[in-house]
Amino acid sequence: MSSQIDHLLDESRRFAPSAEFAAEAIATKELYHRAQADRVGFWADEARELLTWSKPFTEALDWSNPPFATWFADGELNVAYNCLDRHVEAGNGDRVALLWEGEPGDSRRITYAELTEEVKRVANVLTDLGVGAGDRVAIYLPMIPEAVTAMLAVVRVGAIHSVVFGGFSADSLRARIDDAGAKLVITADGGYRKGKVSALKPAVDMALGDRNGSGVQETVEHVLVVKRGGNDVEWTEGRDLWWHDVVPQASAEHEASGFPAENPLFILYTSGTTGKPKGILHTSGGYLTQTAFTHKNVFDLHPETDVYWCTADIGWITGHSYVVYGPLANGATQVLYEGTPDTPHPGRWWEVVEKYGVTILYTAPTAIRSFMKIGRSVPKKFDLSSLRLLGSVGEPINPEAWIWYRKVIGDDRTPVVDTWWQTETGAIMISALPGITETKPGSAQVALPGIAVDVVDDAGVHVGNGNGGLLVITEPWPSMLRGIWGDPDRYVETYWEKFADKGGYYFAGDGARLDDDGDVWLMGRVDDVMNVSGHRLSTAEIESALVAHEATAEAAVVGASDETTGQAVVAFVIIKESYLSQHTPEGLATHLRVWVGEQIGPIARPRDVYIVGELPKTRSGKIMRRLLRDVAEGREVGDTTTLADTMVMSVISAQVK
Ligand code: WT7
Repeated sequence: MSSQIDHLLDESRRFAPSAEFAAEAIATKELYHRAQADRVGFWADEARELLTWSKPFTEALDWSNPPFATWFADGELNVAYNCLDRHVEAGNGDRVALLWEGEPGDSRRITYAELTEEVKRVANVLTDLGVGAGDRVAIYLPMIPEAVTAMLAVVRVGAIHSVVFGGFSADSLRARIDDAGAKLVITADGGYRKGKVSALKPAVDMALGDRNGSGVQETVEHVLVVKRGGNDVEWTEGRDLWWHDVVPQASAEHEASGFPAENPLFILYTSGTTGKPKGILHTSGGYLTQTAFTHKNVFDLHPETDVYWCTADIGWITGHSYVVYGPLANGATQVLYEGTPDTPHPGRWWEVVEKYGVTILYTAPTAIRSFMKIGRSVPKKFDLSSLRLLGSVGEPINPEAWIWYRKVIGDDRTPVVDTWWQTETGAIMISALPGITETKPGSAQVALPGIAVDVVDDAGVHVGNGNGGLLVITEPWPSMLRGIWGDPDRYVETYWEKFADKGGYYFAGDGARLDDDGDVWLMGRVDDVMNVSGHRLSTAEIESALVAHEATAEAAVVGASDETTGQAVVAFVIIKESYLSQHTPEGLATHLRVWVGEQIGPIARPRDVYIVGELPKTRSGKIMRRLLRDVAEGREVGDTTTLADTMVMSVISAQVK
């Protein structure tokens, strides 16, 4: 790790914005000056300018009870109205909102007027189904326009969505439905993935049935099903409804009422350091202000001419903030793509860029690295000259990948913005502003206007330029999480307790360094959270899935660095004697990989499962994952003196080879 960091900090290439880009840029230095002069006033001005309020707010921030913040609390707005109706009312109803491309090559072009009408119909269906303000709706859909429609219809009636990524298993879905107490599930028969239909409805049926003796799910009253895959599905009369039976016949008249700015907007589950995913809660006015602000300024959005494409799935926060809320609040035209990057051919993404004339592309380092592996000949077959800005998110982007992205995809012409943020922050927090910032490959660089971050030591003291420490956010921000659904104590403990004496430092869980210019370089997680292809996974969650298997006695999971996925899941498992004698280690390892995929979802499937006899533990019984990471990354094993049994690592190393 330390050699990697030194290498990173040796990076000295700099890319100033071109004069042409700067001349037309949306963001100006004035933003920093205004925010510097009056941070809260700056956000209030942005909230008034970017959004339409049905009742104006009089107070911007209330931070009298940290860490519980409210923003614009006495104001009212309808989030869906802000994303839809007001654009139609302003005469932009014919502007395309979604340029949807299905994986098999079918496509749909949906204008703001059409999307508004469809959302109104679905809002009426929701009302008929008894879904209203404060109710929770689980959404388990592929990347089809109905996913966007469903989210906006839910928030239009003041209800709360909980989108569950379509790649999660029935068990993961059940846990999320139970935790939120969802009343309705919106799903599809299936969607296209890697050239085949991948079924979704059967997972919903399983999730709602009796799972492992926990009984039939009790809060869900209806399941609304979009027909996409055409695969056969089972049907529960009275509970299940086809979207195409109820939506087209619903009225297209629907008045959007205003809801308080602090009305919950959505819950999104993410992995923490324990086995139980956290339901991150976001509210309306502050969230929409910051997603709209960042989408406009970080991506230099010119809504009349740009074609924007964020490749994230709506199941993740990036899909919420930068596919749905930011772009639609800003009236952008965007591409929505259903499938995987390499189906039916490895140039699929570049074909989409060429076909729609994409101007702004926002994706993840893991995707960029896998394109690097395939080689530049694939993107070079397509006309990518429409691109003018590239963004990166999800994990630190190594300078090599950054440079490749700029040179090969951006023709050495486009600015690259590396954006740091989290499910919890709701919107981008640290990023260059194109047209202003001289960019540095590998560094996320500077806090956005109105955002205050620092890098501190364990005592919360600023480390100073040239030093490393922990990333903290030192002032509340509009799109900050408002809590963990149903668990206020965990909210305080996880994010605010570490630096409690600082009176409100948010601990992000990331290590960071400040370079000599004071720019921020992210160094990865400092807790037991892994980042695999930009997706957050918890070691504890995968360990508990492994020990839930009857053959497993004990398990330890680490994130090992991986050339393509950033980190990869590596598991060390002790198998019960009775199973060891009946199965080969290879067979057990394969079986457990598949098992974890079934329990949590394919993204959690370990790259390697090592069957071992013992795990390295301290005298107090704590597993020393650091040593296992050394083994997983093929390094010499570090200091073992605090182990209860100092010989155990040589035994494990031998077993792994
Ligand atoms: C974690 C948050 C934000 C949407 C996608 C992930 C890592 C995210 C960067 C970046 C370095 C990054 C951090 C963070 N991360 N973006 N530009 N540079 N690290 O959201 O699943 O909530 O994960 O992703 O470690 O804590 P998430």
